[in-house]
Amino acid sequence: MTTITDTLNRPLHDLRISVTDRCNFRCVYCMPKEIFGANYQFLHGDQVLTFEEITRLARLFAAFDVRKLRLTGGEPLVRKDFPDLVAMLSQIPDMDLTMTTNGSLLARFAESLQKSGLKRVTVSLDSLDNKTFKAMNDVDFPVEKVIEGMDAAKAARLSPIKVNMVVKRGMNEDSILPMARFFREKGYILRFIEYMDVGHSNGWRLDDVVTAKEIVAKINAEMPLEAIDPNYVGEVAERWRYKDGGGEIGVIASVTQPFCRNCTRVRLSAEGQLYTCLFAVHGHDLRALLLGEANDEEIMQKIESVWRKRTDRYSELRSENTISLPKVEMSRMGG
Ligand code: GTP
Ligand code: 5AD
Ligand code: SF4
Ligand code: SF4
Repeated sequence: MTTITDTLNRPLHDLRISVTDRCNFRCVYCMPKEIFGANYQFLHGDQVLTFEEITRLARLFAAFDVRKLRLTGGEPLVRKDFPDLVAMLSQIPDMDLTMTTNGSLLARFAESLQKSGLKRVTVSLDSLDNKTFKAMNDVDFPVEKVIEGMDAAKAARLSPIKVNMVVKRGMNEDSILPMARFFREKGYILRFIEYMDVGHSNGWRLDDVVTAKEIVAKINAEMPLEAIDPNYVGEVAERWRYKDGGGEIGVIASVTQPFCRNCTRVRLSAEGQLYTCLFAVHGHDLRALLLGEANDEEIMQKIESVWRKRTDRYSELRSENTISLPKVEMSRMGG
């Protein structure tokens, strides 16, 4: 097993695989309806990597000491036969195999995902209030069904269950405390995410960001918190524990406290482009290599050369000038 490092001495450690650019939600901060409406050109079936192609690439990444595979999208569960892909990937030894989902289809799939070898799940939920949640998912999807999905995941032992809440000013700050109280009771790890300028369709403005500091202060005033150590170097979420022993929360401060210094993540889009940063403009076409019948060694050489040249640290450099740069949508690249 070879570890490879980039120009800033960061090892490659995690692979995030987007299995589809499609989603059954239209979250305002990710796939706003004005852009992702009826006329939006999603990828066709013949443009996306097959399960065999994804698995072959994942094995090659594993040979570079990648130890975490996160399946994302779009919404991974809208891809046909998704548990079959999980079953194929679960054959790779010593891998933290997980997924990020909006939870809408989780009640139906939790059991089969666990049987296929998925280890845990992270479910996105932005509010417990239906009016607010529906305004954010923009497809009238109710809170109760997402919670049902989380509970099904727990029953299927896909633990720990993590919950991601993107906080956008003027939309769901009022949901911070109710979410904290509710998930503390449930024992699921709630993480608050600062709204990011990812993609270029969400009309991001700095004023819309509720900072991690504000979020922690708000919760701490009612339920005292103390900081705890990360689980591993480069963990994205900063961890806090309730002083009374009522579990933990996380804050993901990618805008106000960037974590590029320890960024060990690479992203593979549904169409087989490799991106070394969430904010990258250009990808590296691995599908072309697959179609050109490259052998494993050639593909590994490509991955290694891309990673060794990597200089990305977008969030540390973010400024008025970077915000208007062209970017790839998160639903396509993988969250
Ligand atoms: P664990 O494996 O449970 O530690 O998950 P994680 O901390 O990697 O979290 P997850 O994959 O759920 O990511 C949570 C959110 O953090 C994402 O939805 C993004 O909003 C943000 N995020 C994750 N990775 C990056 C990154 O590399 N750069 C930036 N800027 N944000 C990221
Ligand atoms: N800012 C922060 N997080 C985002 N996500 C999607 N778009 C954004 C954004 N603009 C997160 C969602 C979900 C994951 C797929 O990506 O919350 O957890
Ligand atoms: Fe879909 Fe997730 Fe994007 Fe919402 S954030 S539109 S659920 S991919
Ligand atoms: Fe990594 Fe790019 Fe995110 Fe920085 S902005 S943490 S380099 S993905």
